[in-house]
Amino acid sequence: MKSLIIANWKANPSTLGGARDLFDLVAKGIKNEKKTEIVICPPFLYLLGLKSKISNLKLGAQDCFWADGAFTGEISSEMLKNSGIKYVIVGHSERRGNLGETEEMIGKKIKAVLRSGLKPILCISNLTQIKNSPKGVKEKIIIAFEPVSAIGVGKPYNVERAKKMREAIDYPFVLYGGSVGSRNAQDYIKKAGFQGLLVGTASLIPSEFIKIVKRIGNLD
Ligand code: PGA
Repeated sequence: MKSLIIANWKANPSTLGGARDLFDLVAKGIKNEKKTEIVICPPFLYLLGLKSKISNLKLGAQDCFWADGAFTGEISSEMLKNSGIKYVIVGHSERRGNLGETEEMIGKKIKAVLRSGLKPILCISNLTQIKNSPKGVKEKIIIAFEPVSAIGVGKPYNVERAKKMREAIDYPFVLYGGSVGSRNAQDYIKKAGFQGLLVGTASLIPSEFIKIVKRIGNLD
């Protein structure tokens, strides 16, 4: 199976034009990379304004809601599905920490994403956070291990400790996230045994993100 590299743009950039420029630069740089699947997760507002002509470059959302109807401000998994989106990040630590997202809410979101036939990327920073994910569908859920201490700080998590976490997470597809850059990207796949990466800060710098993709694509 191909390695998966998710770009989490968070609340960036501040214009659709900026998002298009960033997306096009990444698309150009990775168009010959066949060994990786790349998923760009921009803010909701830009999803329909970005189009990929490359089969291994997909779009994902950074969150979703579990129902349609009277939920002001929300975007449901059904809307995402009907807009051609394939992947949805759920339970990012910034949402858990800053926006009060609870385990119960995250569990409902994962179920809704699965019901819509999309692929959930469940972000966890410890093993107890997996317990609310639906049972019996491990192969349909992508886990992203993101130690909070390593997110957005440019201080990557110790590779040996990451390896231990990978071994403890009994799911077939697990990503590492937290201060990933071109210098450490290969270590988390090759040494720690992850199946892919979730990249925040470095995904906003096209040359650096392309380098990460190429380094992973060059692994045998
Ligand atoms: P970072 O963010 O790469 O900037 O550490 C990762 C994330 O928050 O998903």
